[in-house]
Formats: sequence, structure tokens, C-alpha cells
Amino acid sequence: MVETVQWTDAGVVMIDQTKLPRTVEFMTCQTYEEVAHAIRTMVVRGAPAIGVSAAMGVALGVKQADPAKLDGQFELICSTLAGTRPTAVNLFWAIDRMKRLYASVKDKPIAEIRAAFEAEALAVYREDIAINRAIGAHGAPLVPDGKVVLTHCNAGALATAGYGTALGVIRAAVESGKKLEVYSDETRPFLQGARLTVWELQQDGIPVKLISDNMAGHFLKSGRIGCVVVGADRIARNGDVANKVGTYGVAVLARENGVPFYVAAPISTLDLTLDSGDQIPIEERPGKEVTEVFGVPVAPEGTLVENPAFDVTPNRYVTGIITEKGVATAPYEESLTRLAQEK
Ligand code: MRU
Repeated sequence: MVETVQWTDAGVVMIDQTKLPRTVEFMTCQTYEEVAHAIRTMVVRGAPAIGVSAAMGVALGVKQADPAKLDGQFELICSTLAGTRPTAVNLFWAIDRMKRLYASVKDKPIAEIRAAFEAEALAVYREDIAINRAIGAHGAPLVPDGKVVLTHCNAGALATAGYGTALGVIRAAVESGKKLEVYSDETRPFLQGARLTVWELQQDGIPVKLISDNMAGHFLKSGRIGCVVVGADRIARNGDVANKVGTYGVAVLARENGVPFYVAAPISTLDLTLDSGDQIPIEERPGKEVTEVFGVPVAPEGTLVENPAFDVTPNRYVTGIITEKGVATAPYEESLTRLAQEK
């Protein structure tokens, strides 16, 4: 399986997702600033992968920090990484976890502090893969056999430490013997579906067809789609889900056509501090992502654009939220709070 992000002696190594599928290139981040830059420029993307990379970025920063100025440098490392992308809450979840670790080890010798940070970053990485396998196990029984599964964006191995959330559910369903085909929305403007989901499923030999985003309604109406499974960047306490822009439209079309709409996400994607999705910050990305495709203009020069990277799907369109601890269903405030508290 593809190695999305790895901790090595040379630094944090990432597969460069801006280059896929044309070339498979790996980038080594030698400083925490380089990790922050890689997150901001989407060399690494997808909520859990951003969280894992941030944990490794903090560990890298601590490894290189001046022991005499550690308090101040630790603050700077955390704020630099936190300033990269605002919507995926896994970023802040990972940084908070590293902050708690700092509070518990800061008075120890520097070698011990560094070892503790490296161990914690590796734990975040390993736990993520185990969590995705558990999400897959809970989600696989929900996927109808012999039908098409529609997905949007990339919530696969490339968006996590491995296996994936939405694609983890699909992988687990296939591993359990179900015969599936995946339709992948191309996911304009950044084309995570076309470039990443299709590539990743092809690597695993899972049947996949690419459709452009505006075809989703046509296929949801056709009766061929057994269910929709997507990932999430942040889920509010009431079950409203922020995910890649375009998800909301797919959810409404799924409801209109009686197709179940599932969200697969780890507990670390829940933000129980938010009452509803209205409070989720939505990242605005550069207009060039819309006006250009691979550097080639597709709109007149000077065209004004909007480019929100995410949208919020109201909880009423969500059939279930598949987590590593089980499947939450409405009323979400109750089910999500209960799952989050479970050991
Ligand atoms: O902008 P991206 O590519 O980071 O957005 C990714 C998504 O929206 C994913 O669906 C989400 O992060 C879940 S990944 C398991």
C-alpha cells in the first residue's frame, strides 16, 4: 500500500500529491517549516494525513529546537503548523495532543523530550491506520453487495496514514467478498477524485470509474448506486459535516433518490465544541485553482472567482457516521457524544 507520510532519520517523507498521478515522487521535509509548507500547498492533504503530518512536524521541530529556548520555540512550531489549513480539525487535534505531551515532559532532559515526541508522532501514525481498519470493519456491512459506491474527493490511504476512511470502508467491503464498483467524482477544482482516488483504487485493483462532478445526479437517479461514502474534515456536535466542496450537493441528490449517504471519519474529526456546522471555518483557497488546470488558464484573464475548499452537509442528509467505535445515527448530538466518551 502507498506510504503517504513517514518518519525517517532524514526527515518527514511524503508522497507529493500535487504530482500524482503523472509522477510518483517523494518529498523529504527537513524542518517543521517545510512540513507546514507541504500541508499548506497540499503536497499532503486529507484531514487525518494532515493531523499525522502535523504531529511529525512538531516532533521534527522539537528535534531541531535550541534546548535553551525550548518554550518559545515550541509555541512557534505549534502556531506555524496550526496556521496552515483552518477546516480539518485533525490538525488542531494533533497539535493539542503534542501540547499535552510537552506539558508532561518539558522538565526532562532534552534527549528524553525529543524521544518522547518522536514516539508520540509514531503513535499518532500507527493509531491512524488501526482506526481506519476499525472504521472499515464497522462500515463494510452497510455497503450493498453488487452495486456501485459513489465517493467524492479522496478519503483514502492518501488522505490518512494508510487504508483510508471512506475508501477504507470500500476496501473492507471488498475484502469481505462483496462485488463492488466505485464511481469517483472528479472533484473540481483540485481534482482529488480524478487524480488520487482513481489512482489509489487502481493500485489495489478495485474497479473504479471516473465521473465528472455534474454527473452525480444522473447516476444517483439511475438505481445503480447502492450508497455514497465520503470522508469528513470536521463534524459538529449535531452531526453537520464539513467535507470537500460539492459533498453537500451529492448528499441532497442522494436523499432525493433514496440512496444512503454515509460519512466515514475517526473520532478525532469530531468537534464537539461546535453546536452546528455553521460554526465550522471554511478555508478559501487561491482563485488560480479554479481559473487554471495544471497551469493552463480555463477562464478569461482577470476572472473573479470564489474558491471555498469545503461545504457543510446538514445532519438531516446523513444516514450514518461511521467511526472506529461504531456507527452513529440520528439524533447525532446523543450518538456522537456517547461514541466520543466510549473507551
Ligand atoms: O482539501 P483536501 O484534499 O485536504 O480535502 C480532503 C477532504 O475533503 C477529505 O474528504 C477529508 O479530509 C477526509 S480524508 C480521510
